[in-house]
Amino acid sequence: MAPLLRYILSSAVGLPLLLLLCSNPTYAFQPVLFEKGSEGNPLWEYFLQHKQGPVIHKWHSYFDVYHRYFQRFRDVPVNFMEVGVQSGGSLGMWRSYFRHPNSRFYGVDINPYCKLFEEYYPGVTIFIGSQSNRTFLRDVVSRTPKMDIILDDAGHTMIQQIVGLEELYNHVKDGGIYMVEDVATSYWPRFGGALDTAQHTETFISYAKRLVDRMYYGYLNYRGHAYTSEARARLQGHGPSNFTENTLSVAFYDQIVVFERGARPSVAVHAVQGDFSIPYNAEVAFDAAVMQKYREQLLGNRA
Ligand SMILES: C[S@@+](CC[C@H](N)C(=O)[O-])C[C@H]1O[C@@H](n2cnc3c(N)ncnc32)[C@H](O)[C@@H]1O
Repeated sequence: MAPLLRYILSSAVGLPLLLLLCSNPTYAFQPVLFEKGSEGNPLWEYFLQHKQGPVIHKWHSYFDVYHRYFQRFRDVPVNFMEVGVQSGGSLGMWRSYFRHPNSRFYGVDINPYCKLFEEYYPGVTIFIGSQSNRTFLRDVVSRTPKMDIILDDAGHTMIQQIVGLEELYNHVKDGGIYMVEDVATSYWPRFGGALDTAQHTETFISYAKRLVDRMYYGYLNYRGHAYTSEARARLQGHGPSNFTENTLSVAFYDQIVVFERGARPSVAVHAVQGDFSIPYNAEVAFDAAVMQKYREQLLGNRA
């Protein structure tokens, strides 16, 4: 008998444990359903308590990202749009979370049964159509006010996520958020995903990475750091129009990409204040007399 098995059979806890595992062969492989770490997050608390009614379908890691970006909207009138409604549970969660009575909620889904949630949640508006259909999305834009938050949780294919962002990003207010979830599909061939190589067609992640370049577009020409016209041309027309001047940040989380919308100059003002400075020179040779001059300027300036 192998020493480990002999030990298990003879130890006080080993034998009962072995019997327990044998009586339930899947026991050792039960998935960990809920990780710890989101205590105090009202969205997570809502999710845990939500045992009946429309199903909510999220990955655990999303709740903290949501709360990080959305909490400042909780008590103000918010226009919120979720693309991808399915069983409607997440719409209920958002209605509970954004608690201002003048908040408005919009859902978009390709599945016509999702229209039911207009009856279930008074005041919610549902649009039925495909996220990859630009004409449909433009119609949705024309029928709705600008949004504080747009959350893309729909079909998760590359074309859907990219078209959705291109058509809906400019429908987000200044100071608002555009969030795309389930972006691991960028690595799953069934959704059009692939690793970022020269050969592959665009994935949402490769597209979003290039949007980071687009964010810094103004610096390509900054003070003689001249990039080739090809490099600049590659970025022109990439992503939603005016992306550079209307994006404060692009953040990549576990399966979520967040775009914080806000007006900014494409090149920031280089800000300098103060009246003592050491000239920038990485290869300066030390000179005690110069040091003494700086010392007098700096210490003499001290009030
Ligand atoms: C992941 S589920 C949404 C889950 C829901 N937001 C939740 O958290 O419980 C995805 C939904 O996207 C919808 N969908 C799939 N392809 C779509 C498309 N091309 N346009 C719009 N919705 C689509 C599906 O019908 C499905 O209801």
